[in-house]
Amino acid sequence: MTHKSISDKVKIKSKKKRTHSSRVWLERQLNDPFVRQAQVDGYRSRASYKMKEMAEKFKLFHGANVIVDLGAAPGGWLQVAKKIKPKSFIVGVDLQEYEDVPGTIKIIGDVTDAQTIDVLNAKLEGKKVDVVLSDMAAAACGIASVDHDRIMLLLEITLNFGLEHLNKGGHLVGKVLRGGTEDKLLKRLKLHFKNVKHFKPESSRKGSAEMYVVATEFKG
Ligand SMILES: C[S@@+](CC[C@H](N)C(=O)[O-])C[C@H]1O[C@@H](n2cnc3c(N)ncnc32)[C@H](O)[C@@H]1O
Repeated sequence: MTHKSISDKVKIKSKKKRTHSSRVWLERQLNDPFVRQAQVDGYRSRASYKMKEMAEKFKLFHGANVIVDLGAAPGGWLQVAKKIKPKSFIVGVDLQEYEDVPGTIKIIGDVTDAQTIDVLNAKLEGKKVDVVLSDMAAAACGIASVDHDRIMLLLEITLNFGLEHLNKGGHLVGKVLRGGTEDKLLKRLKLHFKNVKHFKPESSRKGSAEMYVVATEFKG
């Protein structure tokens, strides 16, 4: 994707009162090439490009018939999965309500709540899963160790779900923060998947601590 030159950067000039942080956020959105491209391509979020990149690099969806996306709202990854695998059975789960992505199943619930997992299991009707995705992040509190622990809990839930439901040869992607996956969790991933890598997509903001752990070829 071609990045905008500095000269055509959008600056906010309006009489509306904005806090400094909301102005910075708005300017960043308006000048972000992935935000603009998402509008052109009809994606709901710039996050779609992270999934596109990972899907291509790690061949995540080759032969995938059943895909589960935990933390799916507003639906950018679901759109990418649906576009690449239009006939697959795709389920998205999120705490927040989001607009339906046609041809996918939506579950609103908290994955830390056993009832949500029960609903997900009911939707799957015993089907094994080929790809488990998670872009979940709890709202950051700014204390690095607490944010790290929260994201590790979500990754652990994702991994537990994957271990129970993945088909042999299946893949799992989970969000982590800079510094990567906790040792204990990394050991579990390495025990159960042939390849485990940390990856920061091009479209993930450089200043953001986010990255992904990509575990491929579940050993079963
Ligand atoms: C970065 S957004 C996901 C963006 C999405 N991948 C996309 O492409 O549109 C992270 C999502 O995780 C969800 N989330 C965080 N904790 C969750 C939990 N415990 N259960 C379910 N969803 C959760 C949030 O509500 C949020 O919508």
